[in-house]
Amino acid sequence: MERCEALATCTEEPGRITRPFATDAMRCAHRHVEEWMRSAGMTVRRDNIGNLRGRYEGTGRGTLLLGSHLDSVRDAGRYDGPLGVMVAIAAVQSLHDHGRSLPFGLEVLAFADEEGARFGTTYLGSRALAGQLGADDLQRTDKDGIPMADAIRAFGGDPSRIADDAISREGLLGYCEVHIEQGPVLELSGLPVGVVRAIAGQDRMVVTFTGEAGHAGTVPMDRRRDALVVAAMFVIAVEHEARSHEGVVATVGRLEVKPCGTNVIPGEVGLSVDVRHANDAVRLESVQRIMAGAHALAEGRGLTASVRPVAENAAAACSPRMIELLTEAAGGDVPQLVSGAGHDAVVMSSLTDIGMLFVRCKGGVSHNPAESVSAEDVGVTIDGLPRFLDRPSRG
Ligand code: GLV
Ligand code: MN
Ligand code: MN
Repeated sequence: MERCEALATCTEEPGRITRPFATDAMRCAHRHVEEWMRSAGMTVRRDNIGNLRGRYEGTGRGTLLLGSHLDSVRDAGRYDGPLGVMVAIAAVQSLHDHGRSLPFGLEVLAFADEEGARFGTTYLGSRALAGQLGADDLQRTDKDGIPMADAIRAFGGDPSRIADDAISREGLLGYCEVHIEQGPVLELSGLPVGVVRAIAGQDRMVVTFTGEAGHAGTVPMDRRRDALVVAAMFVIAVEHEARSHEGVVATVGRLEVKPCGTNVIPGEVGLSVDVRHANDAVRLESVQRIMAGAHALAEGRGLTASVRPVAENAAAACSPRMIELLTEAAGGDVPQLVSGAGHDAVVMSSLTDIGMLFVRCKGGVSHNPAESVSAEDVGVTIDGLPRFLDRPSRG
């Protein structure tokens, strides 16, 4: 808990937690985490995308991966991401303190970017390890026009060598991530931890409505092609789509209005759209209806709409073996949950079996500075993870 507090001071916005990919705030987090990994007996290296990777050798071959992310959303809480890294380090620390090695190596992965706060696209850290980062990603620019490749260089990585960091599937025993639940289920059931069954799939895209900028005082109302009015109708349509289809969640979280003057009719508006469902077919149908709606709304008012896909991740199932091992380690009687939030585990599922343990959080609140977990509940995972680590040793 103290370490999560310490990481909360690593921010690019004083007074609130904002720790995007490849920033000084992340450098600050790395200084702490690197030291904690080393004192837990790990050798530490930073790879080219900016993941911090701690290795604790075992007596035999094979590697079990543990991890989560160190980046945050804007004005974040303390635990989404860092908690999983801290619990993993604590598990290794307890082995180290007892002078123990397991029959396999452990690698603690502190991922560089899960949230996508800087470049809009998610999972940069885990995608680099899975060999899924492409040249198109490196060309993306942040809000200041800095290309991702330059941001990586400025952080000390070599964008042309990211592929060298990819992890081979061979010898991997699995990937396990501890994370706050970010929902209300555990609190409602009065239980400290739960085991994840699957992670919902998600689409992210940017929809741009283009109309015509003009004078707020002189253009008559019936002659306007106001992009923000259509954007507002679209926001309502997105909400309606999600509310009328069981399990679909859809969010417009960011609007960019141009030219953005109080006395100028908005000529162009870009909106971020995030659509999720545990069933990929249901999600894709919703995305199609939302996109068709964007075009129809634009045409109805003489505007154009364009859609730029940003990221798509299919739903990911946790492996039955990992679910079983985590359930036993957590005491047997724990609920199974579907995660509506995305996690690095989604990408890691392309490399190896994944498993996730969720920790109860207060009021289901997350992506919000009020995010809260109790030390007792975190203690349950810190006690449970070493039990989990001893189980694969027995086959
Ligand atoms: C990550 O937190 C996400 O699900 O957007
Ligand atoms: Mn998050
Ligand atoms: Mn997270």
